[in-house]
Amino acid sequence: MSHTIDLASVRSEFPVTKRMLYLDSAHQTPLATSIRDALADFLAEGHETAGPKPVWLRRVEETRARVAALFNAAPSEIAFTKNTSEGINIAANAVPFKAGDNVVLIEGDHPNAAYAWLNQRRKGVEVRFVKLHAESDVANAETFRAAVDARTKAICLSHVSFHAGQRHDIADIGRFCKERGIYLVVDAMQSVGVLPIDVQAMNISVLAAGTHKGLLVPQGLGVLVVRDGLDELQPAYLAMSSLANPPADYIARPDDLKTRSDAARFETGNLNLPDIQALNAAIDLITKVGVENVERHTLSLGDRLIELLDELRIPLVGPRKREHRAHIYVLGVRLADWAQHLADNQVRVSPERDGIRISFAMFNTLDDVERLGDVLRRHSDAACASRAVEKMD
Ligand SMILES: Cc1ncc(COP(=O)(O)O)c(C=O)c1O
Repeated sequence: MSHTIDLASVRSEFPVTKRMLYLDSAHQTPLATSIRDALADFLAEGHETAGPKPVWLRRVEETRARVAALFNAAPSEIAFTKNTSEGINIAANAVPFKAGDNVVLIEGDHPNAAYAWLNQRRKGVEVRFVKLHAESDVANAETFRAAVDARTKAICLSHVSFHAGQRHDIADIGRFCKERGIYLVVDAMQSVGVLPIDVQAMNISVLAAGTHKGLLVPQGLGVLVVRDGLDELQPAYLAMSSLANPPADYIARPDDLKTRSDAARFETGNLNLPDIQALNAAIDLITKVGVENVERHTLSLGDRLIELLDELRIPLVGPRKREHRAHIYVLGVRLADWAQHLADNQVRVSPERDGIRISFAMFNTLDDVERLGDVLRRHSDAACASRAVEKMD
């Protein structure tokens, strides 16, 4: 990234970097100044002018078009939701399942996605889980082939896994789904804003993500892509905003429940307007940097981290190959042995199933990785020294 954008100016957007070594953007990204300002503007407008709703609604449509561009989608393919779970639930409830149909998921993938489909068991839908052999395994079409049959209606998985950072081969799975006439539903919570995503090239039917990680906006807003033409996918919830012909007089028409043909048929009622305004500012920042550059930059931070881990003999839980990873790196160490040391050194990370999760964002630098290396080295040295003393005793 340093050769195409000014890293110092990106970093100055995130004042939290002055206070701590923030390596936890897979949990939540700290608020950037320009995004905080967009939220403050919204509050000022509400405060001083009682809310210029037509202006806010125009901004919603502007933001919708900009979200669409992030995914190489059309604005008509974008709906605003409240988070990933809501988006995946919308998809799970929209698929026209018959009893005996099935859906295939990856065992151990994010539970928020799994429960949406498990809830469909009430309709007689079978939920099949395929296993990855190791945390470093990356899913592709082969992962699903044996579990799929003529009754498979959907495959759902994360693009990047939250717990070991694998970057699954969505394009390969998308080709397979297209051949077999299966909906591909993708949880892009971890990848959006970090990796380029092209819903057309990847043959994604529905994509759901929250905006509080790579899209840099506080919790409470999600984006949903529902590809044009999937008219059989119909909303489980209905509000005036979902309708093709909403009643101008605000009197419900029991005989006209026809839904809109665009993805906004899945929106119900008023939207999270402050966060949508913040998202517009976030997309300014993201497009200034360029998602390809975020990808390249976080991967090169990962390259250096892996070298340091090897040097310190700290295992990496997830994949090592560049094409199989993104911005998430899990150290295979016991949290209890490291938590206090990391906290004492103002290093912010997440506990993870198999260790400690380090995650990078656009504002992290190689210097951050070197600082982390120093912190890790000091504790490794101390642990070695105390083991040596134990042996002498
Ligand atoms: C892959 C993945 N899916 C979903 C979520 C969260 O779901 P939601 O946006 O519904 O809170 C996370 C983490 O917050 C995640 O890492």
